[in-house]
Amino acid sequence: MDALVSLAKRRGYIFQSSEIYGGMNACWDYGPLGVELKNNLKRLWWQTMTQWRDDIEGLDAAILMHPKVWEASGHVENFTDPLVDCKTCKGRFRADQLDQARCPQKPSKSPGQCGGGLMEPRKFNLMFKTHIGPVEDAGAVCYLRPETAQGIYVNFLNVQAPARQKIPFGIAQIGKAFRNEISPGNFIFRSREFEQMEMQFFVKPGTDMEWFERWRDARIDWHKALGLSADRLRFHPHGPQELAHYAKAAVDIEFKFPFGWQEIEGIHDRTDFDLKRHMEYSGKDLSYFDDAAKERFVPYIIETSVGADRLALTALVNSYAEEEVKPGDKRTVLRLHPTIAPIKAAVFPLVNRDGMPEIAQKIAADLRKRFKIFYDDTGAVGRRYRRMDEAGTPFCVTVDSDTLKDQTVTVRERDSMQQIRVPIAGLADHLEKACAFEAP
Ligand code: GLY
Repeated sequence: MDALVSLAKRRGYIFQSSEIYGGMNACWDYGPLGVELKNNLKRLWWQTMTQWRDDIEGLDAAILMHPKVWEASGHVENFTDPLVDCKTCKGRFRADQLDQARCPQKPSKSPGQCGGGLMEPRKFNLMFKTHIGPVEDAGAVCYLRPETAQGIYVNFLNVQAPARQKIPFGIAQIGKAFRNEISPGNFIFRSREFEQMEMQFFVKPGTDMEWFERWRDARIDWHKALGLSADRLRFHPHGPQELAHYAKAAVDIEFKFPFGWQEIEGIHDRTDFDLKRHMEYSGKDLSYFDDAAKERFVPYIIETSVGADRLALTALVNSYAEEEVKPGDKRTVLRLHPTIAPIKAAVFPLVNRDGMPEIAQKIAADLRKRFKIFYDDTGAVGRRYRRMDEAGTPFCVTVDSDTLKDQTVTVRERDSMQQIRVPIAGLADHLEKACAFEAP
């Protein structure tokens, strides 16, 4: 992890938020390569959900919602972690994760062992509160959403009717969510401000377990198609003690990080809990009339929820490799799937003479219409390749003396380091094909 965090900073993937002020704990900024990676992941997920199938619609709901939403959803009452304070050093810990925690003052000791022990656990709500309007009175309290899901539930009929969708169908949304975590950490794995990609699939009651299994399998296949190693992926079904307050069944897709197996995506059978609660608290009918069966029901919901930041970290961890190319010659490489790689190709003139820079610049300008391209004419070409390996760039295009004769270029592939000759005229199509995502 240390090597990856240092590469992320060095190559402009991820920086600590407000770094010049000492940093803002558990908040992160994405640099030039990081924002491309995250945008590519979001675009791919969005296409998977809303473009490549016709039974899922998109939505972008507001972060700030009516405070009653969070009473209805159960978050005001239940979205809590058990918090304990150390009587001596005032360190704060999650009562259910004490075995993994260390005393902040004396890291060789467990929580509470630095002096007088721990206080009794108390419930700590994870929602960030803010105020609407200029006066900070209780009437104006609202919350930064802790999940995007509720924006979908309250809009269920608003989306269904104009989109003319029939159940079963889904609504997908990407957006920021906020949680005042007691123990954030592991780089961008658990942060206080993060981005969710959530899809809520509305089904007829009684068909929910079948859809739950279909989505569970579809989502792990998607992660595998993205290149995540199958032996680092597994399902973790939730036992009765682990289930969220809204769920009848839940399974996590877990990835093996250097810090252990951790959830990257959750699939939940949320039953009709959320819609029924919103009906109760709002007084509005959110039931659905099935024209064909002539019956009215409140749909059940199968949710797939994945963190964009977590997925970015997963992709980086999965792809990071240090390898010996030949004795004494080492390289660091990010073997990202080309479809999510921040830069798709780098373009180099082999040397800065004989018209090569001009040809290379023209190739780069043409390719830029379709791909994110990086032009580099400094240093030995081998060093340029290595810089691109570290950035995760899948292809390097080099203009050399043969280009002047036959209008072809060298295309070097990052993982195999194999080089082939490709005609300039066919270069863009070659890259397009080589960067494609094979939908599972
Ligand atoms: N919407 C489910 C979650 O935020 O975990």
